[in-house]
Amino acid sequence: MTRQPGTGVRELRTAADLLRTLESGCYTLPELYQLAERAGLADRADGRRIIQDGQEQYKRRIRSALQSLRRQGRARQDDDQSAAWLIEGTTARPRRALLLWLPGDPGQAELVLGAAATVLAQADEPIDLIVADPPYALGRGEHRSAYRRTYGRDHSQVLGGYIDVDPAAYADWTAEWIAAAGAALRPGGYLAVITGGQQAARVQVAAEDIAGLTYVNSIAVKRPFGLYSTRRYVHAHHRVTLMTRGPLDSPQRVFDRPTEMPRGRTGQIYAVDVWTDIPDERRPGLLRYDNALHPALVSRLVRSTTRRGDLVCDPFLGSGTTLVTCLSEGRRFLGGDLNPEALRFAMGRVLAEIIPALRPAVEQLALFDAHEVPA
Ligand SMILES: C[S@@+](CC[C@H](N)C(=O)[O-])C[C@H]1O[C@@H](n2cnc3c(N)ncnc32)[C@H](O)[C@@H]1O
Repeated sequence: MTRQPGTGVRELRTAADLLRTLESGCYTLPELYQLAERAGLADRADGRRIIQDGQEQYKRRIRSALQSLRRQGRARQDDDQSAAWLIEGTTARPRRALLLWLPGDPGQAELVLGAAATVLAQADEPIDLIVADPPYALGRGEHRSAYRRTYGRDHSQVLGGYIDVDPAAYADWTAEWIAAAGAALRPGGYLAVITGGQQAARVQVAAEDIAGLTYVNSIAVKRPFGLYSTRRYVHAHHRVTLMTRGPLDSPQRVFDRPTEMPRGRTGQIYAVDVWTDIPDERRPGLLRYDNALHPALVSRLVRSTTRRGDLVCDPFLGSGTTLVTCLSEGRRFLGGDLNPEALRFAMGRVLAEIIPALRPAVEQLALFDAHEVPA
């Protein structure tokens, strides 16, 4: 693990770095309970209720128990006291994880190991934006797959376990999770689905016909390196299919034009649906997760369609690009993936690379005071 001088940022280079980061930055529920007992928190009048599972307000209670412990300096001492994940399961296979981040606990984030349709159906409240980057049904992860033959990438620093979809089942599978997405959105909320051109049509039809959503935009995002082919045009863009729940003219629908987009002659923002400025995501020499998006793409979607404090869900978490964006942009986050390695990578990345980098801004500007969790 390499430290970036003066920043507190630790780079994750190997699977061992990831394991070390998770072991020092995660608490299991039994561990938390023991710590709370030792600190006398569990002996108060409301006793064990403080952190017991199955209670109403369960999440808030366990977050505030850990927060109290950390404030009192009674939590485990490690070299970065500002954030921890509270997990159900183990660091090898987390089933659910809640982020606790001091000071002020600005970044409310929850990760769940599970299928997209289930995670969406279990959301605690209506969701403002769902960012979904589902697998492309190209046989990723399989030996001799079309994907591997075509891209031939070095996978030695790529975490495994990526789950793809059977191409023959893609239509039904898409219909199932998109129906759950439509039901989970608040009126005026958005579904943004990132696919290749081939799958975009199916996504739009499922969103309109099955989930009853309204078409907003189809955004072409140029890929710096297209998928080379000689017998048809080179695939050189991603598609973002942007849908909303309810009519286009709903006053509940947020749309803020991103300020970094091109300007017209009079200086007004010209927010076009062709994006040519998004780089490929690269982590040279670092541990990676397959097929990650660049944060600039997700950040633009999040900033234009939600406000601070809104709830964003990414049911195909992968490396956690949407999680990282939400922490940076002050949005609450719910994420899910079927692959435990995706949860582990996203959790480790947040602890080692993201929060140490964001902390100075949060501490100096008190950016997120509005989201402080009540004790
Ligand atoms: C294209 S990747 C997401 C990459 C992510 N946007 C990023 O930037 O890192 C798709 C992810 O969906 C996961 N996945 C596949 N089937 C799933 C399902 N039914 N429910 C939830 N996740 C699934 C895969 O394991 C993979 O991590």
